Amino acid sequence: MKFDNELSIIQQKIANGYAGVSRRLSIMNSLNIEIGQNVIDIGCGGGHLVQEIALSVGKNGKSIGIDPSKDQLDAANNRCKDLNNIKLICCTADKINIDDNFCDKVTSTQTLEYIEDVDESLIELKRISKKNSKFVNVSILWDYFRFYGPEKKLNDIIHEAFRAHCFHQMLPLDLVGKLSNLGYQNIKSENLSYLITNRDENSPAIFYENMLAKFAMSQGIEEQHIKDWQNQIKIAEKSKKFGFTSFPVLTSAYLAN
Ligand SMILES: C[S@@+](CC[C@H](N)C(=O)[O-])C[C@H]1O[C@@H](n2cnc3c(N)ncnc32)[C@H](O)[C@@H]1O
Repeated sequence: MKFDNELSIIQQKIANGYAGVSRRLSIMNSLNIEIGQNVIDIGCGGGHLVQEIALSVGKNGKSIGIDPSKDQLDAANNRCKDLNNIKLICCTADKINIDDNFCDKVTSTQTLEYIEDVDESLIELKRISKKNSKFVNVSILWDYFRFYGPEKKLNDIIHEAFRAHCFHQMLPLDLVGKLSNLGYQNIKSENLSYLITNRDENSPAIFYENMLAKFAMSQGIEEQHIKDWQNQIKIAEKSKKFGFTSFPVLTSAYLAN
C-alpha cells in the first residue's frame, strides 16, 4: 500500500489520535533517549515521533526521519519546521544515505511490515547502528486486526481483501529470529493490543474503517458490499454490538558488540 494523497491523510489522522499517542509513549519509554544522541525513525510518516525525538536529544543530538512518500515527508517537514536538529530524507529503508555506526537508537512504527524484502532493510539498519545501540520497532499482528459487528460473511470478504495491503501479516513473530540472526541480543516483545467498543470522531476505528473501505474498492470489491459493511458497523455500534481490535507489538533489542 502506498501512503500518498488521501491514504497519507488518513494515516496521519491515526497518528494524531489516541492510538498514535499511546504507542509513541511506549516507544519513547523504550528508547530512553539521552541528550546528544542520534536517533532515526524509519518510515517516519507525518513526523510525529521525529518531532518528539528532536525535543529529547537537544541541540547536540540529531533526529532523523526517512520515508519514501513525498506527501508524508511534506507533512513531516511542516510539523518540524521550527526545529533545527532534524534531518528528513526521502528514501527507502534498504538504502539510507547515513554513515556506518551513526545512530544510537533506531526505531520504526508500523513500517517494516510494508517492506517486501525486510531482511535487506534490517541489514541496512544494522549498518547505520552503533554497537550497543537500541532498536525499537512497533508492528501489528494483522491476523488480530478486526472489526466486529457486521455480518460474518461480508466482514470476512472485506478483511480478506485488506490482507493484500501489506507484505508481512505477522512480522513481530518473525522479527525475533531475524534480529537474533543479525546479532541482536536481549530481544523483548511487548503487547500493545487494544479493544475499542465505541466510535468517536477521533477514534482509530473510524479512520481504519475508511482505510479498509478504500482498500477494498481498490481490490475490486463491489461498492454496494462496502457500503453495506460500513452501514452494518453503524448499526452494530447503535445496538452496542460493535468492536474493533488491534494488536501492535513493540519489539526491542540491543545490537551486540
Ligand atoms: C503506516 S505508515 C506509519 C507512519 C509513521 N511511522 C506513524 O506511525 O505514524 C507507514 C510508513 O512507511 C513508509 N514506508 C513504506 N515503505 C517504506 C520503505 N521501504 N522504507 C521506509 N519507509 C517506508 C510509508 O510511506 C509510510 O509513511
